[in-house]
Amino acid sequence: MSTAPAPLPGDSPGDVVVDWYASAARDLPWRQPGVDAWAVLVSEVMLQQTPVARVEPAWRAWLARWPSPADLAAAPTGEVIRAWGKLGYPRRAMRLQAAAAAIATDHGNVVPSDVATLESLPGIGTYTARAVACFGYGQRQPVVDTNVRRVVARLVHGRAEALPARATDLADVEALAPADHDRAVRFSVAVMELGALVCVARTPRCGSCPVRTVCAWRLAGSPAHDGPPRRVQRFAGTDRQVRGRLLDVLRGTTEPVEAAQLDAVWSDPVQRSRCLDSLLSDGLVVQTDDDRFALPS
Ligand code: ADE
Repeated sequence: MSTAPAPLPGDSPGDVVVDWYASAARDLPWRQPGVDAWAVLVSEVMLQQTPVARVEPAWRAWLARWPSPADLAAAPTGEVIRAWGKLGYPRRAMRLQAAAAAIATDHGNVVPSDVATLESLPGIGTYTARAVACFGYGQRQPVVDTNVRRVVARLVHGRAEALPARATDLADVEALAPADHDRAVRFSVAVMELGALVCVARTPRCGSCPVRTVCAWRLAGSPAHDGPPRRVQRFAGTDRQVRGRLLDVLRGTTEPVEAAQLDAVWSDPVQRSRCLDSLLSDGLVVQTDDDRFALPS
């Protein structure tokens, strides 16, 4: 990445980030003009725990198949789980379908535009509601994910790492946003992009950072993180891996399967049965009358 120019003295950090975004942003399909709020909602739910490269094809296929909330609401839940494929954290698929059903029945199949109504939908929290209002409806909204909290921690608070989510996050981000409405809207995605591309967790690319000369963390000499160590997300051997393997078996077939077919995917019977139980209680898997297992209908 090329070295970003140093900001001019009169520019606010928020304005500098918006200008940087104009030349540095990735060309991601959900950021194209004309992408509707439903498509934005789908993208945000998918992007919450899955990298961009894996989301792109799944997002396109999803919207081609279910172009409006009512289309998704009417689909068999098993098909929704199947289409979620390998995006991971598959409860998100069920929550998205539940939100789609509420939008279809209670909101005339139009994704609500105000944050409070969005937050009242099943499974839609502070982050997703504001992302839809901002990216889908062009509203001035602070949109705060982990990347944004890390940028604010460094740029404003001089800390190496994001603090856990807290009540002042929204106000911190709003305080950085440019005064101009359209630039403030762009700032919300721009600051997220800065956190994703430059102000990354482990090896921040400060030489490419457009706000390096005003960054409180850099000005303080880039002090090391002084809080509890970052959680490293392990996958191998976790219940998440086992649940994924069990679901893979069911995604690969349209017929219910015998328990023995599921037994084959993981050798530890205690962990396997705990994971199958949790899939059953989440409603991601159902048991048939003849004691076989399937995706829900
Ligand atoms: N653009 C808009 N929202 C995004 C997100 N959550 N991740 C990456 N790019 C985005």
